[in-house]
Amino acid sequence: MSRDAIENPACHRRRLRRLFAELGDGVLLLPTAREQHRNGDVLQEYRPGSDFHFLTGFPEPEAVLVASRRGARQHTVLFVRPRDPAREIWDGPRYGVRGAASAFGVDEALPVQELWRRLPELLQGHVRLFHRLGVDRDFDHRLLDLFAAQAVKHKRRQPAAHPVIEDPVPALARLRLAKDADELEALRRAALITAAGHHAAMVAARPGMFEYEVQTVVEGAFRRSGSPRNGYPSIVASGKNACVLHYHDNDRRLRAGDLLLIDAGAEFHGNTADITRTFPVSGRFTPPQAAVYRAVLKAQLAGIRACRLGAPWDAAHKTCIRWLTKGLVELGVLRGDVGRLVAKEKFKPWYMHGTSHWLGRDVHDVGAYVGSDGKPERLVAGAVLTVEPGLYFGAGDRRVPAALRGIGVRIEDDVLVTRAGPEVLTAAAPKTIAEVEAACRRS
Ligand code: GLY
Ligand code: MN
Ligand code: MN
Repeated sequence: MSRDAIENPACHRRRLRRLFAELGDGVLLLPTAREQHRNGDVLQEYRPGSDFHFLTGFPEPEAVLVASRRGARQHTVLFVRPRDPAREIWDGPRYGVRGAASAFGVDEALPVQELWRRLPELLQGHVRLFHRLGVDRDFDHRLLDLFAAQAVKHKRRQPAAHPVIEDPVPALARLRLAKDADELEALRRAALITAAGHHAAMVAARPGMFEYEVQTVVEGAFRRSGSPRNGYPSIVASGKNACVLHYHDNDRRLRAGDLLLIDAGAEFHGNTADITRTFPVSGRFTPPQAAVYRAVLKAQLAGIRACRLGAPWDAAHKTCIRWLTKGLVELGVLRGDVGRLVAKEKFKPWYMHGTSHWLGRDVHDVGAYVGSDGKPERLVAGAVLTVEPGLYFGAGDRRVPAALRGIGVRIEDDVLVTRAGPEVLTAAAPKTIAEVEAACRRS
Protein backbone atom coordinates (compact mmCIF):
# COMPACT_ATOMS: atom_id res chain seq x y z
CA MET A 1 0.00 0.00 0.00
CA SER A 2 1.46 3.36 -0.93
CA ARG A 3 1.56 6.36 1.35
CA ASP A 4 0.07 8.61 -1.29
CA ALA A 5 -2.80 6.38 -2.35
CA ILE A 6 -5.66 8.58 -3.49
CA GLU A 7 -9.07 7.05 -3.17
CA ASN A 8 -11.45 9.16 -5.17
CA PRO A 9 -13.79 6.67 -6.82
CA ALA A 10 -15.97 9.35 -8.46
CA CYS A 11 -12.98 10.88 -10.20
CA HIS A 12 -11.75 7.52 -11.52
CA ARG A 13 -15.19 6.52 -12.77
CA ARG A 14 -15.48 9.88 -14.53
CA ARG A 15 -12.13 9.35 -16.26
CA LEU A 16 -13.17 5.89 -17.43
CA ARG A 17 -16.44 7.27 -18.78
CA ARG A 18 -14.57 9.95 -20.70
CA LEU A 19 -12.13 7.35 -22.03
CA PHE A 20 -14.92 5.11 -23.30
CA ALA A 21 -16.60 8.14 -24.85
CA GLU A 22 -13.47 8.38 -27.04
CA LEU A 23 -12.93 4.66 -27.57
CA GLY A 24 -16.51 3.47 -28.04
CA ASP A 25 -17.76 0.06 -26.92
CA GLY A 26 -15.30 -2.67 -26.00
CA VAL A 27 -13.09 -3.99 -23.21
CA LEU A 28 -10.09 -2.17 -21.79
CA LEU A 29 -7.38 -4.46 -20.44
CA LEU A 30 -4.75 -2.56 -18.46
CA PRO A 31 -2.14 -4.11 -16.18
CA THR A 32 -0.25 -1.85 -13.78
CA ALA A 33 3.56 -1.58 -13.81
CA ARG A 34 5.55 -4.64 -12.86
CA GLU A 35 7.92 -4.76 -9.91
CA GLN A 36 11.50 -4.54 -11.16
CA HIS A 37 14.63 -6.13 -9.74
CA ARG A 38 17.46 -3.77 -8.89
CA ASN A 39 20.10 -6.31 -7.95
CA GLY A 40 20.09 -9.71 -6.25
CA ASP A 41 16.82 -9.93 -4.38
CA VAL A 42 16.52 -6.14 -4.00
CA LEU A 43 13.61 -4.52 -5.81
CA GLN A 44 13.43 -1.03 -7.30
CA GLU A 45 11.16 1.34 -5.43
CA TYR A 46 7.68 0.49 -6.72
CA ARG A 47 5.53 2.97 -8.60
CA PRO A 48 2.21 2.01 -10.24
CA GLY A 49 1.79 2.46 -13.99
CA SER A 50 0.76 6.03 -14.85
CA ASP A 51 -2.28 5.14 -17.01
CA PHE A 52 -3.38 2.48 -14.55
CA HIS A 53 -3.14 4.83 -11.56
CA PHE A 54 -4.89 7.60 -13.51
CA LEU A 55 -7.89 5.31 -14.07
CA THR A 56 -7.98 3.46 -10.75
CA GLY A 57 -5.90 5.19 -8.05
CA PHE A 58 -4.88 1.67 -7.01
CA PRO A 59 -1.28 1.70 -5.73
CA GLU A 60 -0.28 -1.97 -5.40
CA PRO A 61 1.67 -4.10 -7.89
CA GLU A 62 0.27 -7.14 -9.74
CA ALA A 63 -3.09 -5.48 -10.40
CA VAL A 64 -5.06 -5.47 -13.66
CA LEU A 65 -8.03 -3.34 -14.67
CA VAL A 66 -10.64 -4.91 -16.94
CA ALA A 67 -13.25 -2.29 -17.83
CA SER A 68 -15.94 -2.63 -20.45
CA ARG A 69 -18.63 -0.54 -22.06
CA ARG A 70 -21.61 -1.70 -24.02
CA GLY A 71 -24.03 1.10 -24.82
CA ALA A 72 -24.87 2.90 -21.59
CA ARG A 73 -23.52 0.10 -19.43
CA GLN A 74 -20.01 0.38 -18.01
CA HIS A 75 -18.52 -2.38 -15.88
CA THR A 76 -15.18 -2.36 -14.06
CA VAL A 77 -13.32 -5.26 -12.51
CA LEU A 78 -10.11 -4.79 -10.58
CA PHE A 79 -7.94 -7.89 -10.22
CA VAL A 80 -5.68 -7.54 -7.16
CA ARG A 81 -3.42 -9.52 -4.88
CA PRO A 82 -5.55 -11.14 -2.17
CA ARG A 83 -4.74 -10.59 1.50
CA ASP A 84 -1.88 -12.81 2.69
CA PRO A 85 -1.06 -12.44 6.39
CA ALA A 86 2.27 -14.28 6.05
CA ARG A 87 3.45 -12.03 3.17
CA GLU A 88 2.04 -8.90 4.78
CA ILE A 89 4.40 -9.43 7.76
CA TRP A 90 7.23 -8.80 5.27
CA ASP A 91 5.79 -6.36 2.74
CA GLY A 92 3.11 -4.50 4.68
CA PRO A 93 -0.68 -4.50 4.45
CA ARG A 94 -2.59 -5.08 1.21
CA TYR A 95 -6.02 -3.83 0.30
CA GLY A 96 -7.04 -7.34 -0.68
CA VAL A 97 -10.14 -8.12 -2.71
CA ARG A 98 -12.68 -6.67 -0.26
CA GLY A 99 -10.60 -3.57 0.46
CA ALA A 100 -10.07 -2.88 -3.24
CA ALA A 101 -13.78 -3.28 -3.99
CA SER A 102 -14.85 -0.86 -1.27
CA ALA A 103 -12.14 1.82 -1.58
CA PHE A 104 -11.72 2.20 -5.34
CA GLY A 105 -15.28 2.37 -6.61
CA VAL A 106 -15.06 -0.57 -9.02
CA ASP A 107 -18.06 -2.81 -9.65
CA GLU A 108 -16.11 -5.90 -8.68
CA ALA A 109 -12.71 -6.90 -7.34
CA LEU A 110 -11.27 -10.38 -7.85
CA PRO A 111 -8.03 -12.17 -6.96
CA VAL A 112 -5.44 -11.59 -9.67
CA GLN A 113 -4.79 -15.33 -9.87
CA GLU A 114 -8.25 -15.62 -11.48
CA LEU A 115 -7.58 -13.14 -14.29
CA TRP A 116 -6.88 -15.58 -17.11
CA ARG A 117 -9.70 -17.91 -16.11
CA ARG A 118 -12.24 -15.05 -15.89
CA LEU A 119 -11.12 -13.04 -18.92
CA PRO A 120 -13.00 -15.10 -21.57
CA GLU A 121 -16.36 -14.39 -19.91
CA LEU A 122 -15.46 -10.70 -19.51
CA LEU A 123 -14.63 -10.52 -23.23
CA GLN A 124 -17.73 -12.47 -24.25
CA GLY A 125 -19.77 -10.68 -26.90
CA HIS A 126 -17.21 -7.90 -27.37
CA VAL A 127 -15.54 -7.45 -30.72
CA ARG A 128 -12.97 -4.86 -29.60
CA LEU A 129 -10.23 -5.20 -26.99
CA PHE A 130 -8.32 -2.06 -26.00
CA HIS A 131 -4.84 -3.14 -24.96
CA ARG A 132 -1.39 -1.81 -25.79
CA LEU A 133 0.87 -4.61 -26.93
CA GLY A 134 4.60 -4.64 -26.28
CA VAL A 135 4.73 -2.94 -22.87
CA ASP A 136 4.61 -6.12 -20.79
CA ARG A 137 5.63 -9.02 -22.99
CA ASP A 138 4.91 -11.71 -20.40
CA PHE A 139 1.38 -10.38 -20.10
CA ASP A 140 0.98 -10.31 -23.90
CA HIS A 141 2.15 -13.91 -24.10
CA ARG A 142 -0.48 -14.98 -21.59
CA LEU A 143 -3.08 -13.13 -23.66
CA LEU A 144 -1.99 -14.82 -26.89
CA ASP A 145 -1.98 -18.19 -25.14
CA LEU A 146 -5.54 -17.55 -24.02
CA PHE A 147 -6.65 -16.71 -27.57
CA ALA A 148 -4.83 -19.76 -28.94
CA ALA A 149 -6.59 -22.00 -26.43
CA GLN A 150 -9.94 -20.44 -27.34
CA ALA A 151 -9.28 -20.98 -31.04
CA VAL A 152 -8.69 -24.68 -30.40
CA LYS A 153 -11.72 -24.98 -28.14
CA HIS A 154 -14.13 -23.33 -30.55
CA LYS A 155 -12.67 -24.79 -33.74
CA ARG A 156 -15.77 -26.63 -34.81
CA ARG A 157 -17.93 -23.52 -34.71
CA GLN A 158 -15.22 -21.26 -36.14
CA PRO A 159 -16.15 -18.03 -34.34
CA ALA A 160 -13.49 -15.29 -34.23
CA ALA A 161 -10.83 -16.57 -31.84
CA HIS A 162 -10.16 -13.15 -30.43
CA PRO A 163 -11.48 -9.60 -30.56
CA VAL A 164 -9.83 -6.90 -32.62
CA ILE A 165 -6.98 -5.51 -30.52
CA GLU A 166 -6.78 -1.71 -30.55
CA ASP A 167 -4.31 0.59 -28.84
CA PRO A 168 -6.02 2.73 -26.17
CA VAL A 169 -2.92 4.86 -25.51
CA PRO A 170 -3.63 7.71 -27.98
CA ALA A 171 -7.07 8.22 -26.41
CA LEU A 172 -5.61 7.96 -22.92
CA ALA A 173 -2.90 10.44 -23.84
CA ARG A 174 -5.48 12.92 -25.13
CA LEU A 175 -7.38 12.52 -21.88
CA ARG A 176 -4.28 13.05 -19.75
CA LEU A 177 -3.06 16.04 -21.76
CA ALA A 178 -5.70 18.51 -20.52
CA LYS A 179 -5.66 18.10 -16.77
CA ASP A 180 -8.90 17.58 -14.86
CA ALA A 181 -9.50 19.29 -11.50
CA ASP A 182 -7.97 16.47 -9.43
CA GLU A 183 -4.88 16.22 -11.62
CA LEU A 184 -4.41 19.96 -11.47
CA GLU A 185 -4.73 20.04 -7.71
CA ALA A 186 -2.05 17.36 -7.44
CA LEU A 187 0.23 19.20 -9.89
CA ARG A 188 -0.17 22.47 -7.99
CA ARG A 189 0.85 20.72 -4.78
CA ALA A 190 3.80 19.03 -6.52
CA ALA A 191 4.86 22.43 -7.86
CA LEU A 192 4.68 24.13 -4.46
CA ILE A 193 6.57 21.32 -2.74
CA THR A 194 9.21 21.35 -5.47
CA ALA A 195 9.65 25.13 -5.23
CA ALA A 196 10.17 24.79 -1.46
CA GLY A 197 12.84 22.13 -2.05
CA HIS A 198 14.77 24.35 -4.45
CA HIS A 199 14.55 27.25 -2.02
CA ALA A 200 15.88 25.02 0.77
CA ALA A 201 18.86 24.07 -1.42
CA MET A 202 19.71 27.71 -2.05
CA VAL A 203 19.60 28.36 1.69
CA ALA A 204 21.73 25.33 2.59
CA ALA A 205 24.35 24.97 -0.15
CA ARG A 206 27.85 26.22 0.57
CA PRO A 207 31.39 25.50 -0.58
CA GLY A 208 32.76 22.22 0.75
CA MET A 209 29.47 20.32 0.62
CA PHE A 210 29.09 17.42 -1.77
CA GLU A 211 26.45 17.57 -4.49
CA TYR A 212 24.73 14.57 -2.91
CA GLU A 213 24.48 16.41 0.40
CA VAL A 214 22.58 19.22 -1.32
CA GLN A 215 20.46 16.52 -2.98
CA THR A 216 19.38 15.32 0.48
CA VAL A 217 18.37 18.90 1.36
CA VAL A 218 16.15 19.19 -1.73
CA GLU A 219 14.66 15.74 -1.42
CA GLY A 220 14.34 16.00 2.38
CA ALA A 221 12.24 19.13 1.88
CA PHE A 222 10.10 17.24 -0.67
CA ARG A 223 9.51 14.39 1.78
CA ARG A 224 8.76 16.70 4.72
CA SER A 225 6.14 18.47 2.61
CA GLY A 226 4.27 15.25 1.82
CA SER A 227 5.84 14.04 -1.43
CA PRO A 228 6.61 10.31 -1.12
CA ARG A 229 9.04 10.18 -4.05
CA ASN A 230 10.67 12.16 -6.82
CA GLY A 231 9.21 12.30 -10.31
CA TYR A 232 12.67 11.59 -11.79
CA PRO A 233 16.26 11.31 -10.53
CA SER A 234 17.58 14.65 -9.24
CA ILE A 235 20.35 16.39 -11.17
CA VAL A 236 22.61 18.29 -8.74
CA ALA A 237 25.40 19.61 -10.95
CA SER A 238 28.04 22.04 -9.75
CA GLY A 239 30.57 23.94 -11.85
CA LYS A 240 31.22 22.37 -15.22
CA ASN A 241 28.95 19.40 -14.40
CA ALA A 242 26.04 21.73 -15.22
CA CYS A 243 27.00 21.27 -18.88
CA VAL A 244 26.23 17.52 -18.67
CA LEU A 245 22.53 17.56 -19.47
CA HIS A 246 21.59 14.33 -17.68
CA TYR A 247 24.27 14.49 -14.96
CA HIS A 248 23.45 11.97 -12.23
CA ASP A 249 26.71 11.25 -10.39
CA ASN A 250 26.00 14.06 -7.90
CA ASP A 251 29.31 13.34 -6.13
CA ARG A 252 31.52 16.40 -6.66
CA ARG A 253 32.46 18.74 -3.84
CA LEU A 254 31.16 22.31 -4.31
CA ARG A 255 33.79 24.99 -4.62
CA ALA A 256 33.61 28.69 -3.84
CA GLY A 257 32.54 30.58 -6.95
CA ASP A 258 30.71 27.62 -8.52
CA LEU A 259 27.23 27.77 -9.91
CA LEU A 260 25.00 24.88 -8.84
CA LEU A 261 22.33 23.66 -11.27
CA ILE A 262 19.57 21.60 -9.68
CA ASP A 263 16.89 19.90 -11.78
CA ALA A 264 14.57 18.09 -9.38
CA GLY A 265 10.84 17.47 -9.07
CA ALA A 266 8.61 16.13 -6.32
CA GLU A 267 5.74 13.79 -7.08
CA PHE A 268 2.37 14.27 -5.41
CA HIS A 269 -0.59 11.97 -5.95
CA GLY A 270 1.14 10.52 -8.98
CA ASN A 271 1.92 13.88 -10.65
CA THR A 272 5.36 15.42 -10.83
CA ALA A 273 6.68 18.95 -11.03
CA ASP A 274 9.89 19.67 -12.96
CA ILE A 275 11.94 22.67 -11.84
CA THR A 276 15.50 23.71 -12.64
CA ARG A 277 17.24 26.50 -10.83
CA THR A 278 20.88 27.59 -11.08
CA PHE A 279 22.43 29.57 -8.24
CA PRO A 280 25.84 30.68 -6.91
CA VAL A 281 27.26 28.46 -4.18
CA SER A 282 28.99 31.47 -2.60
CA GLY A 283 25.79 33.52 -2.61
CA ARG A 284 26.58 35.99 -5.39
CA PHE A 285 26.79 35.58 -9.17
CA THR A 286 30.11 36.66 -10.67
CA PRO A 287 29.68 39.19 -13.53
CA PRO A 288 30.10 36.54 -16.30
CA GLN A 289 27.74 34.13 -14.48
CA ALA A 290 25.19 36.93 -14.08
CA ALA A 291 25.46 37.84 -17.76
CA VAL A 292 24.75 34.24 -18.84
CA TYR A 293 21.97 33.94 -16.27
CA ARG A 294 20.29 37.13 -17.52
CA ALA A 295 20.39 35.90 -21.12
CA VAL A 296 18.73 32.62 -20.15
CA LEU A 297 16.18 34.34 -17.91
CA LYS A 298 15.12 36.78 -20.65
CA ALA A 299 14.62 33.84 -23.00
CA GLN A 300 12.66 31.91 -20.39
CA LEU A 301 10.31 34.78 -19.56
CA ALA A 302 9.63 35.37 -23.25
CA GLY A 303 9.12 31.62 -23.76
CA ILE A 304 6.54 31.53 -20.98
CA ARG A 305 4.65 34.45 -22.53
CA ALA A 306 4.46 32.46 -25.77
CA CYS A 307 2.48 29.62 -24.12
CA ARG A 308 -0.87 31.03 -25.15
CA LEU A 309 -4.04 29.10 -25.83
CA GLY A 310 -4.12 28.04 -29.48
CA ALA A 311 -0.42 28.70 -30.10
CA PRO A 312 1.67 25.83 -31.54
CA TRP A 313 3.11 23.83 -28.64
CA ASP A 314 6.66 24.74 -29.74
CA ALA A 315 6.04 28.51 -29.74
CA ALA A 316 8.11 28.72 -26.52
CA HIS A 317 11.04 26.99 -28.24
CA LYS A 318 10.89 29.27 -31.25
CA THR A 319 10.85 32.29 -28.94
CA CYS A 320 13.63 31.00 -26.70
CA ILE A 321 16.06 30.25 -29.52
CA ARG A 322 15.70 33.84 -30.76
CA TRP A 323 16.38 35.28 -27.32
CA LEU A 324 19.22 32.86 -26.59
CA THR A 325 20.83 33.70 -29.93
CA LYS A 326 20.51 37.41 -29.11
CA GLY A 327 22.14 36.61 -25.75
CA LEU A 328 24.97 34.72 -27.46
CA VAL A 329 25.66 37.79 -29.58
CA GLU A 330 25.68 40.04 -26.50
CA LEU A 331 28.00 37.61 -24.70
CA GLY A 332 30.46 37.82 -27.58
CA VAL A 333 29.99 34.17 -28.58
CA LEU A 334 28.26 34.78 -31.93
CA ARG A 335 28.47 37.65 -34.39
CA GLY A 336 25.97 38.69 -37.04
CA ASP A 337 22.28 39.14 -37.67
CA VAL A 338 20.14 37.33 -35.06
CA GLY A 339 17.50 36.19 -37.59
CA ARG A 340 20.14 34.68 -39.88
CA LEU A 341 21.98 33.06 -36.96
CA VAL A 342 18.72 31.47 -35.79
CA ALA A 343 17.89 30.22 -39.29
CA LYS A 344 21.33 28.57 -39.47
CA GLU A 345 20.90 27.14 -35.94
CA LYS A 346 24.18 28.70 -34.85
CA PHE A 347 23.02 28.48 -31.20
CA LYS A 348 23.13 24.66 -31.26
CA PRO A 349 26.64 24.13 -29.77
CA TRP A 350 25.45 25.90 -26.59
CA TYR A 351 21.73 25.14 -26.62
CA MET A 352 21.28 21.63 -27.87
CA HIS A 353 18.00 20.48 -26.29
CA GLY A 354 14.32 21.29 -26.72
CA THR A 355 12.58 23.91 -24.62
CA SER A 356 9.37 22.16 -23.59
CA HIS A 357 7.64 18.89 -22.95
CA TRP A 358 4.23 17.96 -21.60
CA LEU A 359 4.18 17.44 -17.86
CA GLY A 360 1.93 15.41 -15.59
CA ARG A 361 2.17 11.88 -14.25
CA ASP A 362 5.27 11.25 -16.34
CA VAL A 363 7.91 13.94 -16.34
CA HIS A 364 7.97 13.70 -20.13
CA ASP A 365 4.26 13.20 -20.18
CA VAL A 366 2.03 11.54 -22.74
CA GLY A 367 0.42 13.70 -25.39
CA ALA A 368 1.10 14.11 -29.07
CA TYR A 369 3.41 16.86 -30.34
CA VAL A 370 2.51 16.55 -33.99
CA GLY A 371 -1.05 16.39 -35.31
CA SER A 372 -2.30 14.06 -38.05
CA ASP A 373 -1.76 16.98 -40.47
CA GLY A 374 1.97 16.90 -39.63
CA LYS A 375 1.78 20.30 -37.93
CA PRO A 376 2.66 21.03 -34.28
CA GLU A 377 -0.23 20.45 -31.88
CA ARG A 378 -1.93 23.59 -30.58
CA LEU A 379 -1.96 24.44 -26.88
CA VAL A 380 -5.27 23.61 -25.21
CA ALA A 381 -6.61 24.87 -21.88
CA GLY A 382 -5.51 22.60 -19.03
CA ALA A 383 -2.33 21.39 -20.73
CA VAL A 384 0.85 21.76 -18.68
CA LEU A 385 4.27 22.11 -20.28
CA THR A 386 7.75 23.08 -19.18
CA VAL A 387 9.75 26.06 -20.41
CA GLU A 388 13.42 25.27 -19.83
CA PRO A 389 15.99 27.14 -21.89
CA GLY A 390 19.67 27.00 -20.98
CA LEU A 391 23.17 27.89 -22.14
CA TYR A 392 26.05 25.50 -21.63
CA PHE A 393 29.69 26.52 -22.14
CA GLY A 394 32.01 23.54 -21.69
CA ALA A 395 35.16 24.05 -19.64
CA GLY A 396 37.35 23.36 -22.67
CA ASP A 397 35.28 25.28 -25.23
CA ARG A 398 37.78 27.53 -26.98
CA ARG A 399 35.09 29.01 -29.24
CA VAL A 400 33.78 31.15 -26.37
CA PRO A 401 35.43 33.90 -24.28
CA ALA A 402 37.53 32.36 -21.48
CA ALA A 403 35.36 33.96 -18.77
CA LEU A 404 32.34 31.92 -19.93
CA ARG A 405 34.01 28.50 -19.97
CA GLY A 406 32.60 26.05 -17.45
CA ILE A 407 29.36 28.00 -16.97
CA GLY A 408 26.09 26.10 -17.42
CA VAL A 409 22.72 27.69 -16.67
CA ARG A 410 19.21 26.28 -17.10
CA ILE A 411 15.99 27.79 -15.76
CA GLU A 412 12.88 25.63 -15.86
CA ASP A 413 9.29 26.29 -14.85
CA ASP A 414 5.99 24.46 -15.29
CA VAL A 415 3.30 26.37 -17.16
CA LEU A 416 -0.45 25.77 -17.20
CA VAL A 417 -2.23 26.92 -20.35
CA THR A 418 -5.41 28.83 -19.45
CA ARG A 419 -7.90 31.01 -21.28
CA ALA A 420 -6.53 33.94 -19.28
CA GLY A 421 -2.95 33.23 -20.42
CA PRO A 422 -0.03 31.16 -19.17
CA GLU A 423 0.05 30.46 -15.44
CA VAL A 424 3.42 29.54 -13.92
CA LEU A 425 2.69 26.78 -11.41
CA THR A 426 6.24 26.91 -10.08
CA ALA A 427 6.40 30.67 -9.52
CA ALA A 428 7.25 30.20 -5.82
CA ALA A 429 10.82 29.10 -6.65
CA PRO A 430 13.24 32.08 -6.50
CA LYS A 431 14.20 33.06 -10.05
CA THR A 432 15.38 36.64 -10.58
CA ILE A 433 18.99 37.33 -9.67
CA ALA A 434 17.81 39.37 -6.66
CA GLU A 435 15.48 36.58 -5.46
CA VAL A 436 18.10 33.88 -5.91
CA GLU A 437 20.86 35.85 -4.15
CA ALA A 438 18.48 36.70 -1.31
CA ALA A 439 17.67 32.99 -0.85
CA CYS A 440 21.40 32.15 -0.95
CA ARG A 441 22.00 34.64 1.86
CA ARG A 442 19.96 32.16 3.93
CA SER A 443 16.99 34.49 4.24
N1 GLY B 1 14.00 16.84 -15.62
C1 GLY B 1 13.94 16.37 -16.94
C2 GLY B 1 13.66 17.46 -17.89
O1 GLY B 1 13.76 18.61 -17.53
O2 GLY B 1 13.27 17.22 -18.99
MN1 MN C 1 11.82 19.30 -18.07
MN1 MN D 1 13.87 19.23 -15.50
